[in-house]
Amino acid sequence: MKTIQIQKFGGPEVLELSDIEIGKPGPKEVLIKNLSIAVNYIDVYHRTGLYPIPLPSGIGLEACGIIEEIGSEVDLFKVGDRVSHASMPIGAYSEKQIMPQEKLVIVPDGISNEIASCIVLKGITAEYLLHRSYAAKKGDKVLFHAAAGGVGQILCQWANAIGCTVIGTVGSKEKEAIAKKNGCHHVINYTDNNFVEEVEKIVGKNGIDVVYDGVGAKTFEGSIECLKVRGMMVAFGNASGYVHTLDIKKHINAKGLFFTRPSIAHYTITRKELEDSAAKVFDAILSGKIKVEVFKKYSLNEVKKVHEDLEARLLTGPVVILP
Ligand SMILES: NC(=O)c1ccc[n+]([C@@H]2O[C@H](COP(=O)([O-])OP(=O)(O)OC[C@H]3O[C@@H](n4cnc5c(N)ncnc54)[C@H](OP(=O)(O)O)[C@@H]3O)[C@@H](O)[C@H]2O)c1
Repeated sequence: MKTIQIQKFGGPEVLELSDIEIGKPGPKEVLIKNLSIAVNYIDVYHRTGLYPIPLPSGIGLEACGIIEEIGSEVDLFKVGDRVSHASMPIGAYSEKQIMPQEKLVIVPDGISNEIASCIVLKGITAEYLLHRSYAAKKGDKVLFHAAAGGVGQILCQWANAIGCTVIGTVGSKEKEAIAKKNGCHHVINYTDNNFVEEVEKIVGKNGIDVVYDGVGAKTFEGSIECLKVRGMMVAFGNASGYVHTLDIKKHINAKGLFFTRPSIAHYTITRKELEDSAAKVFDAILSGKIKVEVFKKYSLNEVKKVHEDLEARLLTGPVVILP
């Protein structure tokens, strides 16, 4: 079967299309024929080695597919089930994949393969960020960076539905309308403007209840500046670079802030957490609370281009690879 592999860390050029034998699923594993594969920013961190992984390695963490074969002790799924997943082991950029059964969720009818492939990692992330890392409530003033991105489009719609005032930052003029369409009450173009000053114009100085910051190095200091006394800083990504140092006196103590640096793994520790979170995401999509549109489709031959586009900030929404 065809799969994308990396032999070394580097730019998009290290993504190689290979032909490999897939093998047989172990006792508690299933073999999945992927129907649609999602692309996430974490794939870039794995490719570059920002998040080191053993090499050689596959790449990709999120896909939707049909179970073709099950191991001897599989009791949660059967052949023919349509499933999605968003976790290790890495290797979703593949025609087929072997996954442990406990990492999978059944995709309900009414959700297409393409949407199912790109709402589990991004959707569960939006769910835990908004409901569990900091439980946002009606009236909260929320700042979300890269609001027109994959996680951003979902979280901002959801925050709007809860009744939060949603302020989103975006990197280009084109993305302003996309963020508006996806739940942001106020959109700030942080390429052309100082976002701290713009946020202050909307909610006043120290006016934000919670910042969800997946941009990292470029936005971290400003995010802290926007928060109210006892506000919550949720640093959940590093698209512009990792924030390595937290100065407790300057960043936390000055306003008595709360700080967390969560990952999806911390919020899907048990199978129940995974199932409950995925169910909330699927419900939100099926009920129309959240609308997700695939922005662009690529083939496995085009993965270098997907990564180039992602890093060039050209993707204005979730994209999928069709194997
Ligand atoms: N902790 C977790 O559990 C978790 C789970 C999923 C995702 N994440 C993180 O959430 C963030 C969003 O993930 P995503 O997959 O939905 O990606 P995405 O938002 O679709 O893409 C990343 C966005 O970051 C912005 N950005 C700002 N500076 C950038 C730079 N120097 N280089 C590239 N992009 C830059 C760009 O938007 P603008 O052009 O609008 O600035 C870009 O579109 C990522 O940091 C990701 O690692 C974390």
